[in-house]
Amino acid sequence: MFYMSDTPKTDVRSLDPGTTPMRYARGWHCLGLASTFADGRPHAITGFGTKLVVWQDSHGELNVLDGYCRHMGGDLTQGEVKGDNVACPFHDWRWGGDGKCKEIPYARRVPLRARTRRYETAVRNGQLLVWNDPEGSAADRDLLPPELPGVAQGIGEKNDLYTDWSWEVVPIDGSHCRELIDNVADMAHFYYVHFSFPTSFRNIFEGNTATQFMESKGRPDKAGGYGDAELFLKSEATYYGPSYMINWLDVDYKGFQTEVILVNCHIPTGPDSFTLQYGITVKKPEGLDDKTTAYIAKKYAKMFGEGFLQDVHIWQNKVAVQNPLLCEEDGPVYQLRRWYEQFYTDVADVKPEMTDRFEFEVDTTKANEYWHAEVAANLARRTEETADA
Ligand code: FES
Ligand SMILES: [Fe+2]
Repeated sequence: MFYMSDTPKTDVRSLDPGTTPMRYARGWHCLGLASTFADGRPHAITGFGTKLVVWQDSHGELNVLDGYCRHMGGDLTQGEVKGDNVACPFHDWRWGGDGKCKEIPYARRVPLRARTRRYETAVRNGQLLVWNDPEGSAADRDLLPPELPGVAQGIGEKNDLYTDWSWEVVPIDGSHCRELIDNVADMAHFYYVHFSFPTSFRNIFEGNTATQFMESKGRPDKAGGYGDAELFLKSEATYYGPSYMINWLDVDYKGFQTEVILVNCHIPTGPDSFTLQYGITVKKPEGLDDKTTAYIAKKYAKMFGEGFLQDVHIWQNKVAVQNPLLCEEDGPVYQLRRWYEQFYTDVADVKPEMTDRFEFEVDTTKANEYWHAEVAANLARRTEETADA
């Protein structure tokens, strides 16, 4: 890397880009809204360095296999669902959800050990999740994210207390998904990237969860993202495992309270790429008609969607840094990365410091003093400019 070799041998700090992990994280990964896959056709999802095939069988179960047929590499996602199996478009071998080849219509018998890679599945909060483990362990259902009350669990069911999910998919190239995890501990970027004052900021890491508690109010000198003087957020965001985060948001906009749930999840696609997915649902305010509720849901989906894209822009342009240089106001980035490391470590080698409870609150006093002064100056300058014009 040019920025490494160009650094002279002085006390100038070098950026260590680290090495990209050679494996994909152990844990549950969300592939999208379950209903997307429930149409009797095979679907393609890029993930874990390959293409996955997803289909629904006659019992309503969603199945996920490696998308490339073990016969001669045909693309199963371009095949057909026949009975409970997915049939390869090349020579019609039929693969079952358990990963076994069930039938070769033109052959006398199926070869022994005709088995492909399968991913165990779960449907949670109306979304399809798969278990990935490079060590090949059975899925640990105790590690699934929690069921959200008032949100439909099964395939094709309607949310009861919440609006339908608004769901977005964003492919990210040239960035490892660990970049997005750093966000959990990053207090200051809320001001610079998302245009809000984080007034209180705390983290707890424990077991397979990492949580960020934050309170913020919007910047009056910025529009877009969370920039709006009348926007107050109380946010609790927890990663359940390496890739599935639930963010509970109490939004106060001009005194009007709304409960928003944002699910932020990703699937690693290659060593340096991932697919980001995020869903937003809004608790239907009592006494409001459907049209107004839909309008509010759309507004928040747009706002939090924009907030996400602000991060995406940073990730796409930054370099990876193994040794970030931190100040006191930055959150516990190193401890967070130690927590994240557990998902890339064989179960037998997971160390207590990766899973032990760790709690830290950032003192935001000095930062907010400075930021309020800066925003006041920005507003004053703007008033002068308007007066001059
Ligand atoms: S490659 Fe799939 S059936 Fe031959
Ligand atoms: Fe962010």
